[in-house]
Amino acid sequence: MENILEVKNVCKTYISKENAFSNKIIETNAVKNVSFNIKKGEIKGLVGESGCGKTTVSNMILKLIPLTSGQILFKGSDINEFDKEKTRSFRKSAQMIFQNPYSSLNPKMKIKDILIEPLKIFNYKKNEINELLYETINSVGLNKNDLARYPHEFSGGQRQRVAIARALILRPEFIIADEPVSALDVSIQAQIINLLYDLKEKYNLTYLFISHDLNVVRYLCENVIIMNRGEIEEEGNCEEIFKNPKKEYTKTLLSSIATLD
Ligand SMILES: Nc1ncnc2c1ncn2[C@@H]1O[C@H](COP(=O)(O)OP(=O)(O)O)[C@@H](O)[C@H]1O
Ligand SMILES: [Mg+2]
Repeated sequence: MENILEVKNVCKTYISKENAFSNKIIETNAVKNVSFNIKKGEIKGLVGESGCGKTTVSNMILKLIPLTSGQILFKGSDINEFDKEKTRSFRKSAQMIFQNPYSSLNPKMKIKDILIEPLKIFNYKKNEINELLYETINSVGLNKNDLARYPHEFSGGQRQRVAIARALILRPEFIIADEPVSALDVSIQAQIINLLYDLKEKYNLTYLFISHDLNVVRYLCENVIIMNRGEIEEEGNCEEIFKNPKKEYTKTLLSSIATLD
């Protein structure tokens, strides 16, 4: 099957000041020479400890931050060479689900307004807006009455359903889910993961699924990338890596979850 995404030798160096009172410049090599592909329809896991560069990789893929070097192709075209029109259509095709549904939803907006905001930005007509709204809210397991409510009236799991609906409403092809269940109770995590799987089937989605939890990735993903300190340690079929990890780092990651079990 064809690649929807190709990440080629991508690096990111953040340049920041040591602190507000200092002129000392600090360079952080957050991502070093990272390359991988995602096939259409695939759920690719991206695993690594906090600070290893997972969010930096996803922000570069979605054109939210510039890359320092390398190249990212979406359906064969370099995302950093898109003209205005291509960028606009990319902003529909590629969406993000964030870790924390408490901070990612505007507390002052009703669910309905949260969901239709992206449609308004893209100038959808009123009848299209209503159709997409009701279909999407049903698809994520919420109902019509929920549209008039505010985020604080919902549980964490339901809020994440709203966030998923918002990512879905423009009918993207590719979604990055950045630790989408890490902030949720363990009892709720499986429901949200199963929902993401069902939505992938229903809407022909492709996911990059980011997590620091190897168990979650093993359950959902066929293939996984293991990252450590900005670099890829190993990549391959989940079950094979679980059975036969090649790198010391992966073995350590695996033994740390085995003890948690
Ligand atoms: N805006 C930024 N400026 C400077 N350093 C950053 C910035 N964002 C992230 N970093 C650093 O880059 C590294 C990778 O961060 P991140 O991509 O958020 O990792 P992860 O998502 O795996 O936890 C960390 O050392 C982090 O402190
Ligand atoms: Mg992160």
